Amino acid sequence: MWKVGYRKIVVGTDGSETSAIAEQAALNLARAFGAELVLLSAYEPPEVSREWAEQALARGVAAAGDRGVKATAEARAGEPAEAIMAAAEDHGADLIVVGNRGMGGARRFVLGGVPDRVSHYSPCDLLIVKTTSPDAGARPPGAYERILIATDGSPTADQAARRGADLAETVGGRITLVYVGDAAMGQIVLNHTAERLGQGDIATRVLQGDPSDRISALARDEGYDLVLVGNRGMAGARRYLLSAVPNKVSHEAHADVLIAKTVGRSITDLRPGEGAVVLLDGKQVAAYREETGEVHAVSARCTHLGCTVGWNDGAKTWDCPCHGSRYDHTGKVIQGPAERDLAPHQVSS
Ligand code: FES
Repeated sequence: MWKVGYRKIVVGTDGSETSAIAEQAALNLARAFGAELVLLSAYEPPEVSREWAEQALARGVAAAGDRGVKATAEARAGEPAEAIMAAAEDHGADLIVVGNRGMGGARRFVLGGVPDRVSHYSPCDLLIVKTTSPDAGARPPGAYERILIATDGSPTADQAARRGADLAETVGGRITLVYVGDAAMGQIVLNHTAERLGQGDIATRVLQGDPSDRISALARDEGYDLVLVGNRGMAGARRYLLSAVPNKVSHEAHADVLIAKTVGRSITDLRPGEGAVVLLDGKQVAAYREETGEVHAVSARCTHLGCTVGWNDGAKTWDCPCHGSRYDHTGKVIQGPAERDLAPHQVSS
């Protein structure tokens, strides 16, 4: 099956021992995905000089070269979180990697601030590498054997789960799906998710309680290396917690945390072969980019009763979660009860 994969990875470094762990994770992932690496160091004189930043970068580029990974380096003036997000946008990156501490150079006062800020505004997926966990150093950074994927069964959580399954396949890891909420509903959601991922024998867990607390505790108790959550979703029974979950998990889990960007994306984010519901001209638009680069954009409102469709990456279809209508990647009905195609949406070039 065709995989989304990562093609360009931006990693923040400040030359510290902790940021070196994040750098190694990025390097190992770049190698596994055959991705290009962009090393970014931010400087703000007089506390952090450009020379300091450039020395850190030179060491990083040399290490990447030794591992056969194509890497470029960039020193940017300014605040680290802003610098790394701007670099990700400028380079069209699909993954940012930062340590949970560091990226402050000599200015340790920004500790912890960078991952928080990037997790709110990242233009792409974000991997927060735990450089301070008691387990750091127990396995090579970025070598994930056990991956916990949180889902609430929503179309966006499905996209995140697909991203996690692709990553697991690429790095040779095993995945477990977790749902926090009603037990009976949870098992149905997880069985459907496993089916859509084409992995019927996948391990599943259904838990009750606060989603971020329970996910973090499970990750610790069962020894997962990586926890994956969508940048929205995981509402379980408590929808008001919606946006807090990814951020809380990134603080509480002892494992690395991958926050998959599934909400707030734009058409330009779409990689060839990828579909997603994006916001365009204030409307939710179902957009799919062909391998040739051509984009099909249609209304994301199901023509049956108006629910929002979600992208099914396995079948390359738009599926309605409400009553099962399905549309092909151009919005043409392939399964009812809907009878009309999704309405076309004009995309200005
Ligand atoms: S609203 Fe989509 S199938 Fe009913």
